[in-house]
Amino acid sequence: MSEILEHCDAGVLTLTLNRAERKNALTADMYAALADALARAEADASVRVVLLQGQETVFSAGNDIGDFLNAPPATPDRPVFRFLRGIAAFPKPLLAAVCGPAVGVGTTLLFHCDLVYAGDNAAFSMPFVNLGLCPEAASSLLAPQMFGYHRAAEALLLGEPFFAEAALEVGLVNRVLPPTEVNAYAQAQARKLAAKPLVSLVETKRLLKKGQAAQVAERMAEEGASFSRMLREPAAREAFAAFMDKRKPDFSAL
Ligand code: COA
Repeated sequence: MSEILEHCDAGVLTLTLNRAERKNALTADMYAALADALARAEADASVRVVLLQGQETVFSAGNDIGDFLNAPPATPDRPVFRFLRGIAAFPKPLLAAVCGPAVGVGTTLLFHCDLVYAGDNAAFSMPFVNLGLCPEAASSLLAPQMFGYHRAAEALLLGEPFFAEAALEVGLVNRVLPPTEVNAYAQAQARKLAAKPLVSLVETKRLLKKGQAAQVAERMAEEGASFSRMLREPAAREAFAAFMDKRKPDFSAL
């Protein structure tokens, strides 16, 4: 079965991450499927809203670490970068329903969603430093704007998880619910939006984002260049090998 499920009803395209046995870790193929689905959704007049969701126990463990080891994305045309540009520039409302772990891009993609609903079991983290990497998805710009500098520095330098109530307090999520209710609640909110005039939704979103669209694109490109380089360097290689071997990384010589 596909690792990205697509279902369209009542103007809402629901994209479900469907690799729960790997905690919905995202592979290049999954990013490509998501990027293609967003491009089709933008062009398709019958799609008015997009909802991205996982399961009650997991949203996403972030990028697949085996992929990082074996096929690190090198150029801006790679699926991961296409997906990130796609969510940042997506003109129609984009919602997310998040339960359980939301690691790396599982958290940073949320900066580009318009509404985010979380389970009380949600655990957000951006452990890029712990992996010998740097922020992506313009999170180095958007996290300080949303959280304030010190909380963003804590999240991005220490890389430790923060939980649903903290995410609600800093404005990363709109509402916290029991995990069994999150996807259905997000779906209902998406349908509410889909019943409104699309032209007005799109223009409102454009105006909301206008102040920083160019800055976001520029930061994403700069982060992407650093990220691609760092994926091949010793700190990241050690972190990925340690994850695969189920041991603690040894950065003592780095
Ligand atoms: N890439 C590849 N495989 C991954 C993965 C990832 N990002 N995240 C989890 N998996 C795999 C695990 O290796 C494990 O495989 P196994 O059954 O063969 O041992 C399986 O998915 C289940 O994960 P597990 O770690 O046992 O689940 P958990 O509930 O104990 O922990 C997480 C869940 C998400 C907290 C933990 O898996 C994790 O930290 N993953 C890595 C996150 C990460 O660093 N992502 C990169 C961000 S840039």
